[in-house]
Amino acid sequence: MATALGRHLVLVGFMGAGKSTIGAEVARRLGRELADVDAQIERAEGSIDGIFQERGETAFRELEGRYLAEAQAGQPKVIATGGGAVERPLALEDAFVVHVEVALETAWERSRGSGRPLARDEADFRRRYELRAPLYAEVADVRARDADDVILAAAGIHVETGALQLLERFVEEPAALVTEPVVGGIHGADAQLAFPFVESHDLPTGEAAKEVAAVEGLWRSLRLGRDGTVVALGGGALTDAAGFVAATYLRGLPWVPIPTTLTGQVDAAIGGKTAIDLLEGKNLVGAFHWPDQTVIDPALLATLPEQEARSGLAEVVKTGLLAGEPLWELPEPELVRRCAAFKAAVCLRDPHDRADRKMLNLGHTFAHAVEAGARFGVSHSEAVALGLLAALRLSGLDTSAVEDVLAPEPVPADRELAWQALQRDKKGSLRLVLLTRPGEPAIDVQLPPEQVRAELDRLIAE
Ligand SMILES: NC(=O)c1ccc[n+]([C@@H]2O[C@H](COP(=O)([O-])OP(=O)(O)OC[C@H]3O[C@@H](n4cnc5c(N)ncnc54)[C@H](O)[C@@H]3O)[C@@H](O)[C@H]2O)c1
Ligand SMILES: [Zn+2]
Repeated sequence: MATALGRHLVLVGFMGAGKSTIGAEVARRLGRELADVDAQIERAEGSIDGIFQERGETAFRELEGRYLAEAQAGQPKVIATGGGAVERPLALEDAFVVHVEVALETAWERSRGSGRPLARDEADFRRRYELRAPLYAEVADVRARDADDVILAAAGIHVETGALQLLERFVEEPAALVTEPVVGGIHGADAQLAFPFVESHDLPTGEAAKEVAAVEGLWRSLRLGRDGTVVALGGGALTDAAGFVAATYLRGLPWVPIPTTLTGQVDAAIGGKTAIDLLEGKNLVGAFHWPDQTVIDPALLATLPEQEARSGLAEVVKTGLLAGEPLWELPEPELVRRCAAFKAAVCLRDPHDRADRKMLNLGHTFAHAVEAGARFGVSHSEAVALGLLAALRLSGLDTSAVEDVLAPEPVPADRELAWQALQRDKKGSLRLVLLTRPGEPAIDVQLPPEQVRAELDRLIAE
């Protein structure tokens, strides 16, 4: 599986690519330790320049190999290697390797005058750059330019306009296509053109895909063997259901979601949670089943009806509040890339939803209560917008972003039913996700029930 889950994440790349800076950010966001090999050598052995002068480049490369080996002991880390580490065979055990790319001019601007021994002569610098380029390509699983790219790559996510046309690069044969009539009718032919699927199946459109009977139908019609891959093309409902089928059919096959809604691209298809519904409630049966690869093509969003296009925006605002950046202001492809990377980092840090991943519930306790109180006569996105409003108010923070972008209005609902749902949702103790400030979530905040109930009441129209 091409991800960094449970493995070291190793950054390689030329001098001046920013491996140390990017490595530090990625390590922080993944909750991992950073091993910066050059920095460790300098701390223990003195300046790299000094080592080059006194002991020579070969001795330095040997030191580098030793420190790289030491960095690989223990828990999965983020390991930033020196630019020349690839000049000897990289002794890596179980690692996912990312090439942090940089243009020659940028690398030179950043490195000249830095005192680095190999950044004194521009012609020599250029020669090394060209010499090493194929070496990085050879050792790396993927290429990246910034921390978000590294995180996406580490999670097995590829975001690119036009990615659907490049499906051959991300899916192994034999594979089955699972879609639904609406999305299949619009994008199915392009998917079939891009990849030789051995079979193709439809689930029902919308939440009906997540009914047990629909899933049973798919289990029974699949012909793939254990060497097969399930490719899921559709919105969050479709990828939840097809992902669950992939997790369970023949005790689990690899799968590749291709989300086609904004909710799918920034949320549902990321992080490996799959689920179906029971009459007793939504998402009550499911599995953690991390995709082998997730193919995100923002161009697919162009065919969404206006209402669906808007509906993902509530989760985008939620992500921006958690990240502490107005991500909702970005143009669509970049918005998708940044939001997907944010969720990917949180999920890589906590793949089984035991700790930090709870932050993704910001606004959702209230949202679920409002949905129940309105007997599901309100959409999830409207309910999330209201939930975010309540969470910001209880956090004592400015609500203008939510109001300007999502314009939530109180909805008609049964107050008592909503309050009961909120208490049930929290199973006894009322613990909420709030924000200390934007970018700093506070998980498991306990508040007096009266205060929570008063905020819930404000979301409900008379
Ligand atoms: N697994 C998770 O972590 C997670 C997270 C969030 C939401 N979800 C689930 O996601 C589901 C909601 O997903 P959704 O909002 O994407 O809704 P959806 O999957 O029901 O799709 C919405 C509608 O848009 C249509 N559609 C989809 N893509 C289209 C396109 N490109 N062009 C035209 N029409 C298109 C579909 O046919 C459907 O009618 C819920 O079931 C929710 O539980 C799961
Ligand atoms: Zn949601």
